Amino acid sequence: MKVLVFSAKNFEKEYLKNANNKKHKITFTETTLSSKSAIQAVGFDAVSIFSGDKPCGITLEKLKDFGVKYMTLRSAGYDNVNIGAASILGIKVANVPNYSPNAIAEHAVGLLLALNRKLVKANNRVKQFNFNLDNLIGFDLNNKTIGVIGTGKIGSIMVKIMHGFGCHITGFDINENSSLVDNYNLKYMPLEALCKVADIISIHVPLNTDTHHLIDENLIEIMKPGVLIINTARGAVIETSHVITGLQNKTIGGFAMDVYEKEHDIFFKDLSNTIPTDDMLIKLNVMPNVLITGHQAFLTKEALTNIAETTIYNLDCWSEGVKTENELF
Ligand code: NAI
Repeated sequence: MKVLVFSAKNFEKEYLKNANNKKHKITFTETTLSSKSAIQAVGFDAVSIFSGDKPCGITLEKLKDFGVKYMTLRSAGYDNVNIGAASILGIKVANVPNYSPNAIAEHAVGLLLALNRKLVKANNRVKQFNFNLDNLIGFDLNNKTIGVIGTGKIGSIMVKIMHGFGCHITGFDINENSSLVDNYNLKYMPLEALCKVADIISIHVPLNTDTHHLIDENLIEIMKPGVLIINTARGAVIETSHVITGLQNKTIGGFAMDVYEKEHDIFFKDLSNTIPTDDMLIKLNVMPNVLITGHQAFLTKEALTNIAETTIYNLDCWSEGVKTENELF
């Protein structure tokens, strides 16, 4: 099968080449898939895309016209793809539903620890041989209450890890997982109740019409003053401007994000020599109690191996004329 990999990053090419083992004819392009760049897919049977590629109806129509029959996502989340349009056009779409949820949960915990214990600021001081400890006070996680929003694959691991820290665990999910209740004493509750009791909130729901801007000013208003919010899910689950206001009026004590609702065209690029124009990101970036990573929660060897192997597996299935269980419709 001839495959064009859009948004190919240097760090993933070797993993994909190894998993492919020369079975499919893979071409890499760093270009993001769009209605303009879709023309590059002429002559390819399949395209592979990443979370920053946003194939809208027009892009999908063009891909179909150019002969593309398959689209395999190198991500778990698929909020970026117009699934309805792909289905109508008969383009088969598959994702990587289960690549190391540990990678994401562990990154969320890393963000939490670094934010709470001000590790980045502390290390920056020490690099300059400044060993002053002023303004570096955090709090014990033991005995604090964490609210886990979304207790699916990643949220479940978050629950397990935070149970190890001695936290009281509350959760919100439309599908409750009784084993988390039994094993980790998780207490499910409505979202408003969770927001009222949680010292820490970690977000692990997919982005969909119900979760878009789920965390907004109404919820922030009822949160415990000083709450830490960690978002490794999708940027738009949070109304970012409301979080900025919450940080400014000190309702929110700290915010760590691996995802940003306007990350498209920003994340995964070196923009260090350009003048930043995104006002929300500028505001967040200068706040001392905000920690940002650029969508790297998945960036472990295990996750990259799994993403590459599942991507090639999806292509193998299609080239053999069979359905992959990772197909989205
Ligand atoms: P999952 O499907 O296993 O779990 C999602 C959970 O959210 C499910 O339990 C589901 O019932 C719940 N949920 C869905 N809609 C909801 C709603 N309206 N209200 C409450 N709960 C709702 O997904 P998984 O693997 O845990 O991933 C979660 C999200 O994490 C992905 O959708 C993706 O957006 C994000 N992600 C981020 C990565 C990163 O690098 N930062 C990498 C991988 C995933």
